[in-house]
Amino acid sequence: MASEKKERASFSGRLGYVLATAGSAVGLGNIWRFPYLAAKYGGGIFILVYIILAATFGYTMIVTETALGRKTRKSPVGAFSFFTKKKMGAVGGWMNAVIPMIIVPYYSVIGGWVLRYFVEYVRGNGASLAEDTYFSGFIGNAAGSEIFFLIFAALNILVIGMGVNGGVERVSTVMMPSLIVLAVIVAVYSVTRPGALAGVHYIFVPDFSKFSIMTVVAAMGQMFYSLSIAMGILYTYGSYMKDDVDVESSSYQVVLVDSCVAILAALMIIPSVFAFSGADAAQNLQAGPSLLFITLPKVFASMAGGRIFGILFFLMVLFAALTSSISLLETSVSTLEDEAHMNRTGATVFMFAVMIVLGSLSSFGYNILSGARIVGMQFLDFFDFLSNSLMMPISAFTTCLLVLRAAGVRVVIDEVGKSSKFRMRKMYSLSIRYFAPVLLVIIFLSSVLSALGIISM
Ligand code: PFF
Repeated sequence: MASEKKERASFSGRLGYVLATAGSAVGLGNIWRFPYLAAKYGGGIFILVYIILAATFGYTMIVTETALGRKTRKSPVGAFSFFTKKKMGAVGGWMNAVIPMIIVPYYSVIGGWVLRYFVEYVRGNGASLAEDTYFSGFIGNAAGSEIFFLIFAALNILVIGMGVNGGVERVSTVMMPSLIVLAVIVAVYSVTRPGALAGVHYIFVPDFSKFSIMTVVAAMGQMFYSLSIAMGILYTYGSYMKDDVDVESSSYQVVLVDSCVAILAALMIIPSVFAFSGADAAQNLQAGPSLLFITLPKVFASMAGGRIFGILFFLMVLFAALTSSISLLETSVSTLEDEAHMNRTGATVFMFAVMIVLGSLSSFGYNILSGARIVGMQFLDFFDFLSNSLMMPISAFTTCLLVLRAAGVRVVIDEVGKSSKFRMRKMYSLSIRYFAPVLLVIIFLSSVLSALGIISM
């Protein structure tokens, strides 16, 4: 544009916003993290708590971040300082900005696992992937897992460095619907296996005796992670959103798409644990981060055309992971450009270094550094806990404070009202004033107490 001031780029409209936001939201969080947490925290009760939180609290945060981003036309650090010059503002802005820098390294380690499985399916090694010890053997091998992590990280840097994010996003608009179709097929196959119905029951019938504060802590951390909230992404996306796009209904659409993909992934994976793990079912439900990788190969191995399914599935998950990690990386790079006054190349190189150091720690935590523990956790779990359970509640809390103490609830309501009538205005007000801050304090304290071993997860 030949105007005097460089115009901020913008999404083409509502669809552009929803696709970009859903592209960032749908990723490993839905396909890898949600099913293992649901399996671990009692199935139906976890999913119920998750849905309630996403529809109320998650929605509140999406609306807030998007509206503040659009109002200020700035990414988080700038948006905070737009409303307040107090220290708290800077802390809030930076907290939002640092979280993606902690997540993207270990996210890339998991991305590397996905890449490895894709390559092995292409090479026709599906049968070995389905063996019980394959996954532990793979992550137990330092060089083997590190290489795939490095390739995935380099892929991200390449996309960012070459400025071809748009291209990846375009490909992912085809990949994402295809992933959903494929996931539906695999889910139908899984739930119709003998013995799988116990898994469907486990997912959909909440067992209230399994409820504890840790169910809420885990569901809340997952909600932040999966919806890409409390880490600045949506401020940035909001800043690209045109004034006539309906913030309220696009936020609901993002929550809906993201939650449906997560539940679909749970339906692919959890019933298969019951159907394929035999006597190990109860133990496998507790498998944690490895659940997807030990369960799905068994499903594919038993399917006609399993190799093709394996190739396609891991390819699509790879793309979903890539669009998400690129959005994490892109916010980190642009914050460093804007606020630390680095040039783009410098910021990209800096982030690559951060990814290699923190990512390698996470990857080596499963092999040569397996003895190392931080507050009782191995590195990957620690980075996950640090970002999701400790920093995100603080970061979301600073967003609440920003609205309540500096900007005013009215600013958000007016911003949303610019494009359409804000139908859930009353619920929004209550949520941002009372429900969200109180819940955030409870979650944060529970996380600290559990890290200190005072309450158990
Ligand atoms: N929401 C993504 C997922 O569920 O995989 C992860 C993520 C991507 C988080 C981008 C944050 C973000 F900025």
